[in-house]
Amino acid sequence: MERENYTTVTNFLLLGLSGSPVVQFLLFFIFLAVYGTTVLGNLLIVALVACEHNLHMPMYLLLGNLSFLDFCCYSVTAPKMLVGFLFPSQTISYGGCVAQIFFFHFIGGIKIFLLTIMAYDRYVAIFHPLRYMTIMSHGVCVGLVTASWVGGFIHSIVQVVIILQLPFCGPNKLDNFYCDVPQVVKLACTNIITEELLMVSNSGLVTLLCFVVLLISYSVLLAKLRTHSSEGRSKALSTCASHITVVTLIFGPCIYIYARPFRSFPLDKAVSLLYTVIMPVLNPVIYTLRNKVCKWL
Ligand SMILES: *[C@@H]1O[C@H](CO)[C@@H](O)[C@H](O)[C@H]1NC(C)=O
Repeated sequence: MERENYTTVTNFLLLGLSGSPVVQFLLFFIFLAVYGTTVLGNLLIVALVACEHNLHMPMYLLLGNLSFLDFCCYSVTAPKMLVGFLFPSQTISYGGCVAQIFFFHFIGGIKIFLLTIMAYDRYVAIFHPLRYMTIMSHGVCVGLVTASWVGGFIHSIVQVVIILQLPFCGPNKLDNFYCDVPQVVKLACTNIITEELLMVSNSGLVTLLCFVVLLISYSVLLAKLRTHSSEGRSKALSTCASHITVVTLIFGPCIYIYARPFRSFPLDKAVSLLYTVIMPVLNPVIYTLRNKVCKWL
């Protein structure tokens, strides 16, 4: 079939979260509060890390980066979602939708690579404490962070290029509260087996691999920690525990959404909500509760 025969879709309709107007109205205020807390919490961490010289260590600089990304990530999806609670059935232009996917995956990709770097940072700190500052020097740190940005960009641009090639000819009801790959790809009026396979490997497989690598490294860390002195051990254990919690909370939904065929499942929206709305606020909470940053809060 010729692609010219299609009438192109210029707008998508975001169905959002279903529910009565009262529920929607309540959700609006709940999520406005969550959004406010997230923005404040994450920006506070960024400011603390930037201003407090005692925190100019790789671990905190990476944490500052993570908080900054959480703030960005949230700002990509939240505004449209909040407006959607007040005025359901929001439309979003094709370009806006693609842009949202680009930024969402760009930031998400960086976050996943950053978490892997944070695991490496802890590994070096715990097992090579004397060489830590030379191994994780400022130059290395900047290099690793830059690499995670490049990785996130490559991941995201691949997704977007695939989507840009898909013809959209009629159905435009997007069953989510923001634009994401699985829901958008499903609306394409062409056979999407190849694209789906590419995207599942790009998002799902990469996430799954990173997660396995992280799980293995933290297991090795924990196993080796058993031989350490008890005082150093409990400190290292609590840091690792908070990292493992965040890693599981971020990777779990991510794997659920991307590492499978793009069909709808009943829990999809709940997981999307968990991933985009609840997670960014949990991050600062979990890290600050466990880390020394507490002292300055
Ligand atoms: C992010 O990490 C880099 C490299 O260590 C650091 O120079 C920068 O200050 C960090 N940014 C934030 C917001 O913490």
